[in-house]
Amino acid sequence: MEFSIKQGNPDSMKSGCVVVGVFEGGKLSAAAQAIDKAAQHALSDLTKRGDMSGKAATTLLLHKLPGVAAERVLLVGLGKPAELNHKISLEILDATFKALNSTPAKDAALYITDEGVGNDAAWVIKQAVFTAAEQAFRADGMKSKPGKPATLKHITFASLNKPTAALKNVMEQTAATTRGMELTKTLGNLPGNICTPTYLAAQALALGKAHSSIKTTVLEEKDMQKLGMGSFLSVTRGSEQPAKLITLEYTGAAKTQKPVVLVGKGITFDSGGISLKPGAEMDEMKYDMCGAASVLGVMQAIAEMGLKLNVVGVIPTCENLPSGKATKPGDIVTSMSGQTIEILNTDAEGRLILCDALTYSAKFKPDTVIDIATLTGACVIALGHVAHGMFSNEEKLAQELLAAGEQAHDRAWQLPLWDDYQHLLDSNFADMQNIGGRAGGTITAACFLARFTKEYHWAHLDIAGTAWKSGKHKGATGRPVPMLMQYLINRTASK
Ligand code: BES
Ligand code: MN
Ligand code: ZN
Repeated sequence: MEFSIKQGNPDSMKSGCVVVGVFEGGKLSAAAQAIDKAAQHALSDLTKRGDMSGKAATTLLLHKLPGVAAERVLLVGLGKPAELNHKISLEILDATFKALNSTPAKDAALYITDEGVGNDAAWVIKQAVFTAAEQAFRADGMKSKPGKPATLKHITFASLNKPTAALKNVMEQTAATTRGMELTKTLGNLPGNICTPTYLAAQALALGKAHSSIKTTVLEEKDMQKLGMGSFLSVTRGSEQPAKLITLEYTGAAKTQKPVVLVGKGITFDSGGISLKPGAEMDEMKYDMCGAASVLGVMQAIAEMGLKLNVVGVIPTCENLPSGKATKPGDIVTSMSGQTIEILNTDAEGRLILCDALTYSAKFKPDTVIDIATLTGACVIALGHVAHGMFSNEEKLAQELLAAGEQAHDRAWQLPLWDDYQHLLDSNFADMQNIGGRAGGTITAACFLARFTKEYHWAHLDIAGTAWKSGKHKGATGRPVPMLMQYLINRTASK
């Protein structure tokens, strides 16, 4: 999908389809008025007759209007300006691209930034790019006969006014973000027999090859042994696939600038281990590497953009399977930090690989560390499939992440990291146990990680409810790549 932005008259715009808005009650947007004038009142006649009410997210496709250069004109209902909010804007954009994708048009010119679709042109462009890319994404690459790719290939954000350089920049950055999300989604959707830790390492090495700004290193189990990563290694014991610790170092600023480290949970299949999960929907545990996939998506996008920032991606990746060699409930392991952990439930494995990756991350002398993990089923119960769970040991970082989530419409909700919860992790035999009981399961998981992140500013994103969709529309979402990208872009602006 390609995007461009330009000024031009709607009636003379050469395009497969020109998109203009109509308000509820029949008032035409400025762009629609220009078409109406050129086409001898075709649009005002239509609205008068009641063929287009202008109700939000309704559409009407017109062909070959006299006096109009484009092959088609798509009218889009904008509703009542006073009732417009982000949710309605997104419904309008979704309906617009659904209508465009049901035509054979290869390109379209959208007059949606001047008025009506949203109150902020940058926000509208961002969400339009996300919507276009989402509808063009295909997940059928493993079918023997994949379906047709989307016909719509080029989107022009057209305007009656001259577009600013800032708006063009937003469009390009968002396009790069969607390409990162595509990588995240594709990797997430791949089954566990293909997307193994070795496969993820190969993807990371390929990113390093494609971008001179990225240096990829892959540590093997023997290296992790030397580093004392007894917690991480305890998770992979039941698996035949070798575990990997992947690091991607992106240099976009002076070497002296401290990096942001992104740590992504990369469990390529989570059966629960000896604490075996129930069978229903267990296939979805192939998505337990979506944190890792989001780190790879972000690394690709920032390299493509040449973002002026240093970022390190750290990906601990392995499978969690039962076997005669697997770690058992009651086993005690020593983490890289030296702290000992009593593993009471082998299904609470994410925190066991993350804690060693978080300790390892200190070696990059980070400014900030953010981990991204499909960590707890309890987070799905708490926040559903809308918001990521977010924790931080530094309030400014928390606020920056929340704001970035709002800006990108990829939102998080903050949960408490209070010491009052820490005692739930007390063990009779080790420094801590790896579960805190059913109550506050998302919080006690974060409290566990907090014991390994005391040396730096840190945030934790629990994406268990947001990384993929279940049911008929099963598939990875590419979240939280938009939020992380917005956060990183904001950092370059404030430096
Ligand atoms: N990967 C799961 C979390 C998960 C479950 C994400 C369902 C999305 C949907 C994680 O490794 C896990 O199994 N967590 C346990 C922790 C419990 C044993 C303390 C959970 O949430 O049940
Ligand atoms: Mn688990
Ligand atoms: Zn898991």
